[in-house]
Amino acid sequence: MSPKDQTTGRPGQRGPRHVAIIMDGNGRWAQARGRPRLFGHHAGAKRVREIVEACPDLGVEYLTIFAFSTENWKRTQVEVAGLMSLFRRYITKEARALREEGVRVRFIGDRVRLDDKLIRLMDELEEMTAANTRVHLTIALNYGGRDEVARATKRLAEDVAAGRLDPASVDEETLPKYLDTYVLPDPDLVIRTSGEARISNFLLWQSAYAEYEFIDTLWPDFSSEIFAGLVRDYGARDRRFGGVRA
Ligand code: FPP
Repeated sequence: MSPKDQTTGRPGQRGPRHVAIIMDGNGRWAQARGRPRLFGHHAGAKRVREIVEACPDLGVEYLTIFAFSTENWKRTQVEVAGLMSLFRRYITKEARALREEGVRVRFIGDRVRLDDKLIRLMDELEEMTAANTRVHLTIALNYGGRDEVARATKRLAEDVAAGRLDPASVDEETLPKYLDTYVLPDPDLVIRTSGEARISNFLLWQSAYAEYEFIDTLWPDFSSEIFAGLVRDYGARDRRFGGVRA
């Protein structure tokens, strides 16, 4: 399937094939309860399973979630270490259920700053779920859209320098092949929770024609019912990809 076809979804399908979520608001959710920010992240992690499980019935084949951005290193050392520990625990605890429920897990982002134990767990989870096809769950970890495009461009330039790629052949179908998401269709719907209306460096290239939903709910309060409502609303949207209605 060419990247062009990917942006058009499945013929005759009204629902989104690929939903991407910016899971925002964990800190505020915890603060409102007088608890430390990490309490909110733990509550947020519990929401992930419910949303993954809701996907097949809603016709969502691909779910991509933003777990940690290239900018999140600016948070306190306690919060960063707590999040890294949460990711390790999540993978260890959820691996079996994910495999048994037919979820294929992939990670996107730059692994260079992640610790060896976490990288090993990520590799193992990708490997043990590689044959699954029911839901494709992609977890963005140390991910930034600009960083991804820069890394992709570097690899593309290396191919040009080595004579493997003719610069004259480079077009908008070339670059996506170098992105972390090269095997994924573009997102049809991007959801951000917590009332912030910005995309914070998430899937910049891939979301060029995505539909957006910015909702006030904080991520730990997000539910499969809210998710189903947003998926339903998407069906009413008129996506023209820069063209006009037939
Ligand atoms: C943004 O909320 C959230 C994050 C930076 C972390 C997202 C992580 C999770 C939901 C937890 C686990 C995920 C997995 C895959 C196990 P925020 O801290 O910016 O909230 P705030 O804007 O209210 O401060």
